[in-house]
Amino acid sequence: QAKSLFDYNVFLIGFMGAGKSTIAGELQEKLEMNRVEMDQMIVEKQGMSISEIFDEYGETYFRNLESNTLIELQKCKQTIVSCGGGVVMRAENADHMKKNGRIVLLTAKPETIFERVKDSDERPILNNNMNVDFIAGLMEKRREKYLAAADIVVETDAKTVTQICEEIIAKL
Ligand code: S3P
Repeated sequence: QAKSLFDYNVFLIGFMGAGKSTIAGELQEKLEMNRVEMDQMIVEKQGMSISEIFDEYGETYFRNLESNTLIELQKCKQTIVSCGGGVVMRAENADHMKKNGRIVLLTAKPETIFERVKDSDERPILNNNMNVDFIAGLMEKRREKYLAAADIVVETDAKTVTQICEEIIAKL
């Protein structure tokens, strides 16, 4: 069992490219907590990539896998969970996270997100929509859900990983 300042789990949420995985890695080192990547858990369990799951079974199927993964994670302790970007789309998912953790929302402007994700082809939601307008539109649609789920909000534009982590730790 990791020893840490914090005895709860920390869920990192936010749009694709908000920096959830990067920040989770850094926080894990700084706080000596455990760490899991929800998308990675799903990929390993299914033996398929996220894109393959979307292509073969569709988004609803993927969202079900995501919800089930969160339920599994309820047994975790002192764990930093890097969530998939769409995890807040179901209200019950936020409820599951709140039961045993604090939820940190990472935000960034659509232009910043675009710069961070534009060369990646691992995000089926963006594959045919890799542009700032689409990102801005989807972000706007999800905005209230992200904010409603969050205990802590940290803006990530023009900040270093270290600065972002310090801000999160100060607010936790
Ligand atoms: C998604 C975000 C992705 C992944 C899937 C769907 C979304 O995770 O779960 O492609 O709907 O926002 P990242 O936020 O880690 O890219």
